[in-house]
Amino acid sequence: MPVLLSKCYTEEVLIHLFKIRQAYLELAPTLSEELQSLTFLAISATLRLSSYVGTAQWQYILPNKRKAKISKPLNALDIQIALMLEDMHCMQCLRTASQATLLKEDARILEGIPDKSIDLVITSPPYANNYDYADATRLEMTFWGEVNSWGDLHDTVRKFLIRSSTQHVSKDRLKLDALIADPILEPIRDELILVCKELEKVRETKAGNKAYHTMIAAYFVDMGSVFHALRRVTTSDCKICFIVGDSAPYGVYVPVEQWFGKLANEAGFCLWSFEKIRQRNIKWKNRKHNIPLHEGRLWIEN
Ligand SMILES: C[S@@+](CC[C@H](N)C(=O)[O-])C[C@H]1O[C@@H](n2cnc3c(N)ncnc32)[C@H](O)[C@@H]1O
Repeated sequence: MPVLLSKCYTEEVLIHLFKIRQAYLELAPTLSEELQSLTFLAISATLRLSSYVGTAQWQYILPNKRKAKISKPLNALDIQIALMLEDMHCMQCLRTASQATLLKEDARILEGIPDKSIDLVITSPPYANNYDYADATRLEMTFWGEVNSWGDLHDTVRKFLIRSSTQHVSKDRLKLDALIADPILEPIRDELILVCKELEKVRETKAGNKAYHTMIAAYFVDMGSVFHALRRVTTSDCKICFIVGDSAPYGVYVPVEQWFGKLANEAGFCLWSFEKIRQRNIKWKNRKHNIPLHEGRLWIEN
């Protein structure tokens, strides 16, 4: 029994969840691929509702936090399936069906996407804010037996993602000089070095000793690759919209949209502009620094 599951559920709830999982595993081979995926999605979507610890959507699991309301697994599954049914009826009433095709691709490479085939890109990439998307999937992946412990997350998930968390760089033991030397960083190298050196210095004064200096360098290497991959697959009249936010790890300001704009120019895109949507880091009293931040749409065109 993975420790995470025994921390998140009572024994009674776990028995129900395992029965549901067992039923799925027995039935899945008899179902079409679409029905398998829908059932898998419905079950996965109920896992947080029947846990008594802190499991808000998109949050890491907080085993010491208690929830006021928890659902019984079978009730949660009924509700989830009803919700999905309603969505499907709604689409069918409109006499429409999704034209979307999901491709499992790494945005840094876009391997299976032909050259000059895309005329609109709308994307919300990871921010350089140390959020660990691998950890966010831990409960679901543990339930399905895809990982057994936190330590498994790196090889199973994290190493395939844009390097936007310090977990990435500490695992990969990245060296700042090697990262900074990457040719992709050419248009921002001088500014980036100053920020990374400052982060390296500030780090010494912090108890957490987080490797933001290498995280930031690796983040821009990866995002530089994304712009190069996009340049290859987009048409000459393509519009690209990135939702971006700037960041200030350890209170050191990183002008994210400016650097994205320069990396995009270097990749061959002629125009970029930033449209601010909102301010960040101005509301909360418990914030770690008081550098005002913002968030908005970065538009990139040829
Ligand atoms: C800010 S979230 C966007 C979430 C999305 N808008 C949604 O509603 O699900 C960033 C997403 O980028 C994904 N991601 C990270 N690295 C990636 C990569 N190399 N290729 C493609 N997607 C990646 C993360 O897993 C995460 O889901």
